[in-house]
Amino acid sequence: ELSFNMGSLSVDEIEAAVRMLLSLKLLYKTTTGQDYQAGLPPRDLVLINNGTSKEEDEDFVDPWTVQTSNAKGVDYDKLIVRFGSSKIDTDLINRIERATGQKPHRFLRRGIFFSHRDMDQILDAYENKKSFYLYTGRGPSSQAMHVGHLIPFIFTKWLQEVFDVPLVVQLTDDEKYLWKDLTIEKSYEYARENAKDIIACGFDINKTFIFSDLDYLGTSTGFYKNIVKVQKHVTFNQVKGIFGFTDSDCIGKISFPAIQAAPSFSSSFPQIFNGKENIQCLIPCAIDQDPYFRMTRDVAPRIGQPKPALLHSVFFPALQGAQTKMSASDPNSSIFLTDTPKQIKTKINKHAFSGGRDTIEEHRKYGGNCDVDVSFMYLTFFLEDDDRLEQLKQAYTSGELLTGELKKVLIETLQPLIAAHQERRKQVTDEMVKQFMTPRKLAFEF
Ligand code: TRP
Repeated sequence: ELSFNMGSLSVDEIEAAVRMLLSLKLLYKTTTGQDYQAGLPPRDLVLINNGTSKEEDEDFVDPWTVQTSNAKGVDYDKLIVRFGSSKIDTDLINRIERATGQKPHRFLRRGIFFSHRDMDQILDAYENKKSFYLYTGRGPSSQAMHVGHLIPFIFTKWLQEVFDVPLVVQLTDDEKYLWKDLTIEKSYEYARENAKDIIACGFDINKTFIFSDLDYLGTSTGFYKNIVKVQKHVTFNQVKGIFGFTDSDCIGKISFPAIQAAPSFSSSFPQIFNGKENIQCLIPCAIDQDPYFRMTRDVAPRIGQPKPALLHSVFFPALQGAQTKMSASDPNSSIFLTDTPKQIKTKINKHAFSGGRDTIEEHRKYGGNCDVDVSFMYLTFFLEDDDRLEQLKQAYTSGELLTGELKKVLIETLQPLIAAHQERRKQVTDEMVKQFMTPRKLAFEF
């Protein structure tokens, strides 16, 4: 209600003032995602900006699309600024090394996990002998996982080992049913198949709980309560702002973010945390999942829960180039965990985008470009030896090493790695899957 002395104002002036007020209210709402209330300052402003400003930027990143016009890939420094996260710098890496007493994983040394939220708080707590837990996940959209899907799991396994903490892995079969052309039964089946690949990464069965949403949501005494709490504190307008939902998206999609948020709260797993509500959570994930957790972090204090901390990775580039990420739906863009040594060789030789020159003479003269060369990029993910990687870089850049030779190194790196994965996956029995997926106490006292 407007209450001021209208005696000295014309009708036009009053109408203009009302229009102005309404447009300010609207602006307030689109910026903050909250309805304007007189006298109440906005809560957490960071939430709404998904960083998808259209004017300046070529890069587009959300949970469904990663696109850039730059052959070097997404500009991750810009993404940090836009998303409002923090860079994983040398100081933080050194601190992780001091806290764990372990050489930092190559994903940290090489900036593959490059961004974080509140990792210093996790380390503060850890140094004071306070435990935390890890949470990561996977949307089981098909049976076929590719090497890019392994990145968060390889890193999570390392974190579990060096910090010795519990891990929960969410398989969002519900999400894939909602988003893809899949039956419930199929996506549930994919969840179990994918669980085998995840288990094959070497997680400790006594410290890891893997769950399918379709299974666990209905049986847990804590999970659904957290979903409803999150749902109560996020408006339709906010999820539209964060995820780009429209009025014609089904309501399952619109409420799904609450389901991905809930495992960030320890009370979703009473059997693991003995009903405790305040155990801190650390989420390793690819940066495209950040919108879910920006939302989660905004809600957390309002439902009396600690905000989850995050470690963000870059995307795993498609064979065709770093303009987009590897996609399981395009067989030629990916190297699958089921590929034979021969398929790996052919795919890399045929499809891996090269930063080399057109002719041998030119290559020798001008050298290759590691910044856009997909084979080199893959080696930074998978070749453990830092010195060897540096030698390859110099030799390729100087023109001494040819594209075919670089590709050969990659092929010889990936073939044994994938063969070993296949071997470990074969050892994963249905009985083991069942055990990993049974809600139970883990080897930790809370
Ligand atoms: N939405 C993710 C996907 O489509 C799956 C997921 C659920 C996830 N919870 C997560 C990923 C937590 C990382 C961290 O793959």
